[in-house]
Amino acid sequence: MIIDKRERALDIHELDYFSPEIFEKEITKIFHGSWYAIGFASDLPNHNDFFLEHVGHKEVLVQNVNGEIRAFTNVCPHRFSAIHTEPRGNRALVCPYHLWSFNAEGVARFPGTADAGCPPSSGGSPRLEAWRVATAGNVIYVCLNPSAPSLEDYLGPSRQWIEEISLGCGYEFKSFQSEIQANWKVIINNTLEFYHAYSVHPQTFRPLINAPLQKIKALPSIPPNIHYAMPLKEGDATMARLDKLFGRLLKQPAGIEMDAYEHLYSFPNLTIGHVNARSFSFFQYEPVSPERTKLKVRVWMPSAVAENSSSIKVICEDFEVKLRPFIFDIAEEDRVTCEAVQRGLKSKPKQWASRFIEDEALVVRFQKDYVRLMNS
Ligand code: FES
Ligand SMILES: [Fe+2]
Repeated sequence: MIIDKRERALDIHELDYFSPEIFEKEITKIFHGSWYAIGFASDLPNHNDFFLEHVGHKEVLVQNVNGEIRAFTNVCPHRFSAIHTEPRGNRALVCPYHLWSFNAEGVARFPGTADAGCPPSSGGSPRLEAWRVATAGNVIYVCLNPSAPSLEDYLGPSRQWIEEISLGCGYEFKSFQSEIQANWKVIINNTLEFYHAYSVHPQTFRPLINAPLQKIKALPSIPPNIHYAMPLKEGDATMARLDKLFGRLLKQPAGIEMDAYEHLYSFPNLTIGHVNARSFSFFQYEPVSPERTKLKVRVWMPSAVAENSSSIKVICEDFEVKLRPFIFDIAEEDRVTCEAVQRGLKSKPKQWASRFIEDEALVVRFQKDYVRLMNS
């Protein structure tokens, strides 16, 4: 069944997958205006550990400063050198050009001020551009918008879910990066429906799903975040045993859907998914330009897997061998598909709109939320 006509109009008038002007507006309104999932606290265990990430055109440094996570735009207020030049490392907040240093609030101190006297020529204390920082478990979020709600209010019930999963996931067994030649919204659209699983993932995801497709169950979330689960086929005996085991290894498995593919879209740039809690995949999307998006994928198992008895380890190691190519292959299949959509959109007659079927209702929800935020 096709969803009603009012939904279809969105695609013609308000969604844009190419324009540099719209991309700039998205950066201001969405990527700098909302809470953006920038990385993981477990990557910054020690004082002065840092990493760099792009949020829109801004390079952001995220650093452990005396146990507190801080985020600043990676540019010196003196004459605009980058503060850090390596993508990650351990280094004080010091600009390499003239050695201005910065405290935890990003306020500058000048070498030689006390003895040689060389204060800045204009008034006020120069400081780094500071981002708001908050965490949900192991996930670090940043936001440049002072009037955005707190992360707690922004994520609502999803915050506890992210906390539970990300803190239970101490054992990382796969990570990879790729680049998709498609607009970030094409990719998000694709993550919010299962209709394509039959055709795009015939060897990977399709064996896990029931035919006909089960109804997606929407889970509580605050727009524009989206949380859903879809029941899967019952696995074989080994998998069922593994599922029970992994369920037990989480602190509070009650909050996790155990017989399903569960997916949380933390708007605008992070999705977290799992199949029966066997492993947890974190997909971060970094929009580079209207037609290019970087993808960073990290996959964890509950940390208790690594700490458990050797027989459990053997089962898990066997599982890992199968799971590694599975996740990579799915991401590749989706990349090819999204690039084909991006190409197709270029040739689309102006009057055409997407024809959504019921199973794509969450795509419509995302698009409506997007339009609402862009017009706010
Ligand atoms: S540019 Fe940073 S100290 Fe001069
Ligand atoms: Fe897919």
